[in-house]
Amino acid sequence: MSKYQEVREGVAAAPKTWLITGAAGFIGSNLLEHLLKLNQRVVGLDNFATGHQSNLDEVQSLVSCEQWSRFQFMEGDIRNPEDCVRACKGVDYVLHQAALGSVPRSLKDPLATNAANITGFLNMLVAARDAEVSSFTYAASSSTYGDHPALPKVEENIGKPLSPYAVTKYVNELYAEVFARSYGFKAIGLRYFNVFGKRQDPNGAYAAVIPKWTAAMVRGEDVWINGDGETSRDFCFVENAVQANLLAATVDEPAKNEVYNVAVGDRTTLNRLFSALKGALAENGVRYDKPPVYRDFRPGDVRHSQADIGKAATQLGYAPEFRITEGIAKAMPWYLKQ
Ligand SMILES: NC(=O)c1ccc[n+]([C@@H]2O[C@H](COP(=O)([O-])OP(=O)(O)OC[C@H]3O[C@@H](n4cnc5c(N)ncnc54)[C@H](O)[C@@H]3O)[C@@H](O)[C@H]2O)c1
Repeated sequence: MSKYQEVREGVAAAPKTWLITGAAGFIGSNLLEHLLKLNQRVVGLDNFATGHQSNLDEVQSLVSCEQWSRFQFMEGDIRNPEDCVRACKGVDYVLHQAALGSVPRSLKDPLATNAANITGFLNMLVAARDAEVSSFTYAASSSTYGDHPALPKVEENIGKPLSPYAVTKYVNELYAEVFARSYGFKAIGLRYFNVFGKRQDPNGAYAAVIPKWTAAMVRGEDVWINGDGETSRDFCFVENAVQANLLAATVDEPAKNEVYNVAVGDRTTLNRLFSALKGALAENGVRYDKPPVYRDFRPGDVRHSQADIGKAATQLGYAPEFRITEGIAKAMPWYLKQ
């Protein structure tokens, strides 16, 4: 039996109370769906800055009435310390996902990114520490590798941040470390690498590449590639990220106060991604014949990204179940329904 299977069976047998911040967002709502299906009690905190009520409604439609009755939603803001205190009350495990994502957004409005991602993070750390939760798992980011040239990325070798967003995610890790040292409060950071899947917002200026391109292809619009298309990423299907969260939240003491790469260990160029999405759409009866349109590289973007997932594999038992093409195939029906 895999470690993940073991953990799923363990939590299903002894339900706990989980807090998901950013529950109305993409990763948060996928965590919510999985936890409710495991008959857990879940508190969700979100201010709908980038999340949607429709994500919560969709989760409701996918679980039983009884499972949904175990969910308590709080509309609130992590920038407000009292909301964090209220949300952490009586909670066993915190999965802190709420933040303002997107490198370009942070370049345009660094103050907003800082307030949600650093002040909000610190509010959550303090509230979780004071509530004496059993574990605190938070969304870190591969952007922390910044300008470090080595591939694949290994947790201890990071470079200089390339954007305000990357600074905020690195500061999260620094605060987590200082809280461990100063208060004995231990947190686990999951450095996500380009997560994708259902409920990832395809709209708006800051949409991620997979939902954005898929939506453009479905509408017959141009697909823009920033740079020469040889920029590469380690695309991670959201169910792999869900697995990492459940493993991290429930892990034994020695692996706490660490950060882990969460990805697959593959490297896919944007040109190959373009072909993969085109192929997956064709399999679903949607033809896209236009070539991509190339434009300038985007400021703040890392050129290549690929994770070494050895640390998460060894210490957490993480074993991603979906590679990029499998993830795209699973996500495509949802994208098409949009
Ligand atoms: N998606 C990725 O590829 C990726 C990669 C690296 C890190 N991350 C991190 O993972 C986390 C989840 O990202 P996502 O892709 O699901 O994004 P998302 O925008 O879909 O979800 C974030 C959620 O947080 C909520 N939120 C934002 N500010 C808030 C505030 N002040 N108070 C309460 N709620 C607030 C939003 O409304 C949204 O529902 C974020 O911390 C993000 O930085 C994501």
